[in-house]
Amino acid sequence: MTPEFWHQRWRAGQIGFHQQEIHVYLKRYWPALKLGGDERVFVPLCGKSLDMLWLAEQGHRVIGVELSEKAVADFFAENHLQAVRSEEGPFVRWRCDEIELLQGDFFQLAPQHLGSYQAIYDRASLIALPPTMRVDYVHHMVSLCTDGLRGLLVTLEYDQARMDGPPFSVEGKEVERLLGSRFPLKELEGIDILQEEERFRQKGLTRLVERAYLFGGEKILSD
Ligand SMILES: C[S@@+](CC[C@H](N)C(=O)[O-])C[C@H]1O[C@@H](n2cnc3c(N)ncnc32)[C@H](O)[C@@H]1O
Repeated sequence: MTPEFWHQRWRAGQIGFHQQEIHVYLKRYWPALKLGGDERVFVPLCGKSLDMLWLAEQGHRVIGVELSEKAVADFFAENHLQAVRSEEGPFVRWRCDEIELLQGDFFQLAPQHLGSYQAIYDRASLIALPPTMRVDYVHHMVSLCTDGLRGLLVTLEYDQARMDGPPFSVEGKEVERLLGSRFPLKELEGIDILQEEERFRQKGLTRLVERAYLFGGEKILSD
């Protein structure tokens, strides 16, 4: 998956992953992370997700990273937010109040770009990447993370033989291998959303399970 692949998707408006509603798992499970409310939340591969607005509404500061200039510009414009832009090495930082988006490549992120953050929200980010990039993604994520980190991950599971990604199918055993070896991990519910996803039914899928996981912070996992 090259950067050009994603730039092309954004140029062509092929952004079926973008949702007009706040994600149901975010609203349902974010409280289970037992955060104070004012933590800084990292949203990798953030697109123009409205979930970032919800996180900011809860009192969080949000730091997203996204390759596409169009995605970042659209996020601020469509939400009537006026961002201030500054160049920062390989990134352009767009900032408006409690939301900052770094326009550039996740894999070029260094701790000084990101600053400290206490939580991660990953919806459709890990699953946007092919298998070898997923390993690199988690490896890089871990290299950037600070102590006590916790997060919410949302994946998709389907029969990979029936469709090429993205989105890719990421099963529980892979999440366990990638994240479970580094963080306490708790698998939450999975709902088959195929009925609401016409585009995936047309591609021949017979099952499309969206699953949530909590990771990090010992305390959250004991409940
Ligand atoms: C499937 S979309 C999900 C977007 C968002 N998480 C959401 O829920 O709507 C994946 C996004 O990751 C971005 N992306 C892909 N590779 C990236 C990279 N290396 N660095 C930063 N963003 C990247 C793409 O441009 C795309 O907007």
